[in-house]
Amino acid sequence: MGLAIANALLESGANIVLADIKPKPETIADGPGRAVYLQGDLSDEEFVREVVGRAQDHAGRFDYLVNTVGVWWGEEDVSLVDMDLDVWDRVFEINIDSMMLTARHAVPLMLQNGGGAMLLISSIQALRGDPLAQDAYSASKGAIRAMSKSLAIQFAGDNIRVNAILPGYIWTDMMWRLEGKPERRKEIENIIPLQRFGTVADIAGASLFLLSDAASFITGTELIIDGGTTALP
Ligand SMILES: NC(=O)c1ccc[n+]([C@@H]2O[C@H](COP(=O)([O-])OP(=O)(O)OC[C@H]3O[C@@H](n4cnc5c(N)ncnc54)[C@H](O)[C@@H]3O)[C@@H](O)[C@H]2O)c1
Repeated sequence: MGLAIANALLESGANIVLADIKPKPETIADGPGRAVYLQGDLSDEEFVREVVGRAQDHAGRFDYLVNTVGVWWGEEDVSLVDMDLDVWDRVFEINIDSMMLTARHAVPLMLQNGGGAMLLISSIQALRGDPLAQDAYSASKGAIRAMSKSLAIQFAGDNIRVNAILPGYIWTDMMWRLEGKPERRKEIENIIPLQRFGTVADIAGASLFLLSDAASFITGTELIIDGGTTALP
C-alpha cells in the first residue's frame, strides 16, 4: 500500500521520501516527482528524525505524511491471555510508536508551512472484535484510529488535517499466508460484498483524495475501504 500511495504521489508531481525496513523496491515510479528511499526501522526515533529531516530538505517543505507501517503476526499475535509479552510490545512499537513518532516530527514542519495533511493506516479491526484473536494487532489499530482523531482536533486550528484509512481485505504482501491457497482466498472473497479483495490502487486513489484540497473540509474521520465487509450485519 505504501509503495502504491508513494507512486501515485510521484505521478502527481510530489517530491517524496519513502522509508521502510525492507530494501529499496525496484518499482518506484519515475516521476515527475522525485523520490528518495531510506531503509530503516520507523519505530526508532533517530531514524524517524532522519527521514522527516530528509523529506524537508528534499522537497523544501513538508506538506504530507502518510504512514502505512504495520505488522500482523498471525502465528504469534494471538489471545492476550496466551501471548508472549515481547510480541505484544513489539507489535505496539511498530504499529503505534511509528505513527506517533512520525507525526511528532512532522507536525512542527507542517506548522512552519502553515498547514498540511496526514493519513494514518489503521484497519477495520479497529471497529470490531475477531473470533480469531489477534489482540495486539487489533488493539494497535484501534489506537491508531483514536490517535488520528486526537491529532485532528489538536491541530485543526493550524490547518493540519488528519484522517485514518481503515482497509478491509486488501491483496498485498501481508496476504502471503494465502499464497497457493485458492480455496481459502475464495472463501474470503465470498464474505466480501463486492466479492473481491481490494487492491493497492483502491487505497492509493482514496489516499490522494484525502490528502488533496478536494478533501479540505475532511478531518478527524476515517474512510473504510473494505468492499462492504463492515456493512454486513
Ligand atoms: N492488507 C490488508 O488486508 C490490510 C488490512 C487492514 C489494514 N492493513 C494495514 O495496512 C498497512 C499496510 O499494509 P500492507 O497490506 O501494504 O502490508 P505490507 O506488509 O506490504 O506493508 C507493511 C510495510 O511495513 C513495513 N514495516 C514493518 N515494520 C517496519 C518497521 N519497523 N519500520 C519500517 N517499516 C516497517 C514492512 O516492511 C512493509 O513494507 C499496515 O498498517 C496494515 O496493518 C492491511
